[in-house]
Amino acid sequence: MCGIVGYVGPRNAVSVIIGGLKRLEYRGYDSAGIAVVRDGRLMRRRTAGKLRHLEDSLRVDPIEGVFGIGHTRWATHGRPSEENAHPHQDCTGRIVVVHNGIIENYLDLKRLLLERNHRIETQTDTEVIAHLVEEQYQGSLLESVRNTLPKLKGVYALALLHVGEPQRLIAARMGPPMVVGLGDHENFLASDIPALLPYTKDFIFLDDGELAEITPDSARLFDRHGHETTRTPQRIAWDPIQVEKGGYRHFMLKEIHEQPQAARDTLVGRIDLEAGDVNLEELGPAIEGLRTAERVVIVACGTSWHAALVGKFLLERLAKIPTETDYGSEFRYREPLVGPSTLAIAISQSGETADTLAAFREAKARGALPVAVCNVRGSMLTREAAGTLLTHAGPEIGVASTKAFTSQIIAMLLIALHAARLRGTLERNTLRALLAGLTRIPSLMDQTLGLDNRIDALSRTLAHAKDFLFIGRGIHYPIALEGALKLKEISYAHAEGYPAGEMKHGPIALIDESVPVVALCPAGRVFEKMVSNVQEVKARGGRVIALVTAGDSTLASVLDGTDDAIIEIPPSEELLSPLLFVVPQQLLAYHVALRAGRDVDQPRNLAKSVTVE
Ligand code: G6P
Repeated sequence: MCGIVGYVGPRNAVSVIIGGLKRLEYRGYDSAGIAVVRDGRLMRRRTAGKLRHLEDSLRVDPIEGVFGIGHTRWATHGRPSEENAHPHQDCTGRIVVVHNGIIENYLDLKRLLLERNHRIETQTDTEVIAHLVEEQYQGSLLESVRNTLPKLKGVYALALLHVGEPQRLIAARMGPPMVVGLGDHENFLASDIPALLPYTKDFIFLDDGELAEITPDSARLFDRHGHETTRTPQRIAWDPIQVEKGGYRHFMLKEIHEQPQAARDTLVGRIDLEAGDVNLEELGPAIEGLRTAERVVIVACGTSWHAALVGKFLLERLAKIPTETDYGSEFRYREPLVGPSTLAIAISQSGETADTLAAFREAKARGALPVAVCNVRGSMLTREAAGTLLTHAGPEIGVASTKAFTSQIIAMLLIALHAARLRGTLERNTLRALLAGLTRIPSLMDQTLGLDNRIDALSRTLAHAKDFLFIGRGIHYPIALEGALKLKEISYAHAEGYPAGEMKHGPIALIDESVPVVALCPAGRVFEKMVSNVQEVKARGGRVIALVTAGDSTLASVLDGTDDAIIEIPPSEELLSPLLFVVPQQLLAYHVALRAGRDVDQPRNLAKSVTVE
């Protein structure tokens, strides 16, 4: 939610910043801007709309600078116009700020500043920061920012420069992420690691309440009292190539196809087939919770919440631990019954989703043992957890989550299987069979991806549908939710996921030939029930796209409509089949959205990392 990049060093600051913003555009894409300084002169350029508008403007009328800051915006206060685009500046035009987050008391601050004759030019909550720093400024930007921060209520990641303090940037964090990238005679600021991967692999993650001051030859951290702090930089192994499209038309398609590798990377070193066990030593002392916890609560948002529902199913089925799930945004407001005998698991791709973090903190404050399942090493969530299981999906850029989701399910399988082993709730042979099945999943995913052309052809007949229903049962109910979410996120069609058995209590009223019903019918416990639900749809003239386990012939005898379709998924253990059944749904969402002419990687109104509540 808003991307920030800052640069000090010998390169052309404009190209470093614009390049970095491009790799962060998934965070916000309704407007963008940049401010750089050269020979004591500030040059600022801002445009409404996507980053390419800013690039076009810079191509027509270039600017240059030796240090500067840039921003891509996801509007919260004030519409996405050029005027409201960051960077913002003070009355003197010498102090410049970019901001990710929300300043909750900005109206009070604005009123006070207007009374003191400041010229406020935008509708944003951010501009007040520049004017407050202006009032504090006595020759040190660092000091004036530090003295300003206590006046701000809300959350922020900030980057600032002062025209009169060459080659120096100040950053501050309270909530949304901010990293310092360390280079050789150059240093960087960014909201997220991918922005800087072409330049460095060494990062320092700012903590809440911390400030950073970077110059080409130094990167210093300070606490809120101005005391310098030290931190060992973290080396991030991600490859810069991973944040390029690599020949694919969209990041989303690339990431769908990266799922076998992401699954392999998430499994590697964690399965011991001989011993019939999972190695989760990386969870550290938190592992004890898997043995002793009386219950588990899982908190998450969006797609990660669907992984949480799958996790609940697995923990209850395999490890016999009572488990509940909640949305990050709901958990805190219902006075949850959580205590020291509770294991609290937060699932998050980014590790920075504000609602998930807030719920996690609430669970911690109530005494629960906090464990994270996360894709970003060093993110806020991982730093607040007693133990973390990293999903090794690699950077995910497409706003609609795909490979992170399947990696999260694998992580939850590993946790549930290990808990089952510790608690003795599974026969060793069953455990071994599931582990062996898990190791086959990456190649089965590869096979499933072979459906791409078939799904593309199918999407031609679906591109004009306005409403969709996705139904599934048991462990496939969350997969139906995920199928519907994927489709609505990127195609803007209305899609609802429903437990198939509940269809007759409401959604069945919607069914006619214009509402395609995607039915998840894997072989296993609930297959017959799903067949009955499909028949209910057919009896009302509905159109069915059935996902079945390869080799099934039952659905073929039920589905005779020319518009119906049967998609065969490679066979796997029932509990592992969600990892495969979700893939054609991702492809379906992708192709339908593409045919509808949507912006697949950057759908309207959404952002990849939601750092406001
Ligand atoms: C946003 C993204 C979703 C994601 C959700 C949770 O809504 O668009 O794709 O599932 O945030 O994000 P997290 O990083 O916590 O998994």
